[in-house]
Amino acid sequence: MTYRTYSTLNSMSQKKTFYVTTPIYYVNDVPHIGHAYTTIAADCVARYKRLKGYDVFFLTGTDEHGQKVEKAAQQAKVKPIELANNVVIRFKDLWNRLNISNDDFIRTTEARHKKAVENLWQIVNKNGDIYLGEYEDWYCTPCETFWTETNLVEGKCPDCKRPVEKLKEPSYFFRMSKYQDSLLKHIEAYPEFIQPEGKRKEILSFLKKEQLRDLSISRTSFSWGIPVPDDSKHIIYVWFDALANYLAACGYPDDLKRFSRYWNNKTGEVIHIVGKDIIRFHTVYWPTFLMSAGISLPTRIFAHGWWTVEGQKMSKSLGNVVDPNEMIDVYGVDQFRYFLMREVPFGLDGDFSTNALKGRINGELANDLGNLLSRTVSMIEKYRSGIVPEPNILKYREEYEGFVMGQFENKLKTQFDSLMSSLNFYDVLSQIWFVIRNMNAYVDRTAPWREKDEDIRSNILFVLSEGLRIISIYIYPFMPAAAKKIWQQLGLNDNIENIDFDSGTQWGKDISGKRVCKGEVLFPKIEI
Ligand code: ME8
Repeated sequence: MTYRTYSTLNSMSQKKTFYVTTPIYYVNDVPHIGHAYTTIAADCVARYKRLKGYDVFFLTGTDEHGQKVEKAAQQAKVKPIELANNVVIRFKDLWNRLNISNDDFIRTTEARHKKAVENLWQIVNKNGDIYLGEYEDWYCTPCETFWTETNLVEGKCPDCKRPVEKLKEPSYFFRMSKYQDSLLKHIEAYPEFIQPEGKRKEILSFLKKEQLRDLSISRTSFSWGIPVPDDSKHIIYVWFDALANYLAACGYPDDLKRFSRYWNNKTGEVIHIVGKDIIRFHTVYWPTFLMSAGISLPTRIFAHGWWTVEGQKMSKSLGNVVDPNEMIDVYGVDQFRYFLMREVPFGLDGDFSTNALKGRINGELANDLGNLLSRTVSMIEKYRSGIVPEPNILKYREEYEGFVMGQFENKLKTQFDSLMSSLNFYDVLSQIWFVIRNMNAYVDRTAPWREKDEDIRSNILFVLSEGLRIISIYIYPFMPAAAKKIWQQLGLNDNIENIDFDSGTQWGKDISGKRVCKGEVLFPKIEI
């Protein structure tokens, strides 16, 4: 069986589509570094795919229903919707400040979302996969998760170690158990469905060892959520509600043309980027809901690692929650974006410390990249009145100019696409910095300030400018503002956002004749 209902309505779009999502974040609290991390990662790949000519749809948003938000609103003595309205502004402001290029922002309290959830429920129900029963189990409100007695660790939630409460209530159930085999087969048949590989293995071994239970998907003990169609005493379980956002935002159920363009497009990709904390909801619950509804599954679910802060779990009570706004104020937007993508391989856990952040800013950003740009522009101003010279390729030296040009033809070019597409930001940035360091070494070795042959001096200045032009395209997905500044300082007028990645990263000669323009220091050094 394949899970495609609308496949006949194939994509109208000419370009390949790329639909990337972040989790929708709870509005019980303001955004922190963890939320920024996932959203920046999604932004990097979305920006890259746009330059590659894909029809990109990049979605983020907020998860506003459920007991957790209801309790937080009670504590703040406001209505849940008032709490949501306030916190949503904080998320949207942060995404603006962080230069996040999302195409849409969905809130689960919007009418389009409610409609999608109700529709999904009705189809799953019509397919015979929802029944009324009684639920009795342990519930962890912070995680919005039910646990059996045996799951508990010392009587507490096995995930967050907080107290759980016993809930007994009538509940609608989803026949998740029915889809265990199909899910296993899907994960085995599509190795890219769950990434990274370690997480895929974990889910596979869980599915092979444990019998999936049917899932309780409604509550009667609170009211903040979407009522079950035709039985409004029940509120739809917050995860059944939340996951449907991915369908709602791309047109489900009314705009089937749009839905078939981004979701149901065999040649396109749908990728959910999430933290490892919510992998099971995305790789077990979500695909089984979709299978029941006869809707195709996302192509990939990538679960990244967890940030601690100076070796400790981040928590309000410890007072060590990292506020991205503060990071932006003190260190700068691109510096923060760069650090998060560069510090740990995407998929592994990471530890945040301001010392590590300062080290990367002063070393890789200020010394390596900033310095390369400022010395290049200064020398062009000093020796060529600010105009990038024409090269004399007859005087290219294999071990110098040839060496730098070779850097751009090597691994960087051949591996960039596969590394970026597999979200291996760490290796991408390592390779870009390898080239940047080699360019600095080239300046030191060729010492253009001592060069007597003007043709050779021109060649050096040209090679540096052309190299920096290409570097700025490579770093653009990670540091869009810095890339634009480099572009401006090199006298390039066209908008870097409209560059075609493949032709733009070809070594060429068009930069000759541009008037460079020294700007502010790209990455100011930070006092340690
Ligand atoms: O789970 N390190 O929302 P949420 C890395 N509403 N990433 C972190 C992190 C950390 N320390 N802390 C949070 C929800 N994150 C649901 C999602 S989706 C249909 C519903 C990131 O506000 C990471 O992406 O608790 C994690 O999965 C997400 O924030 C959880 O956000």
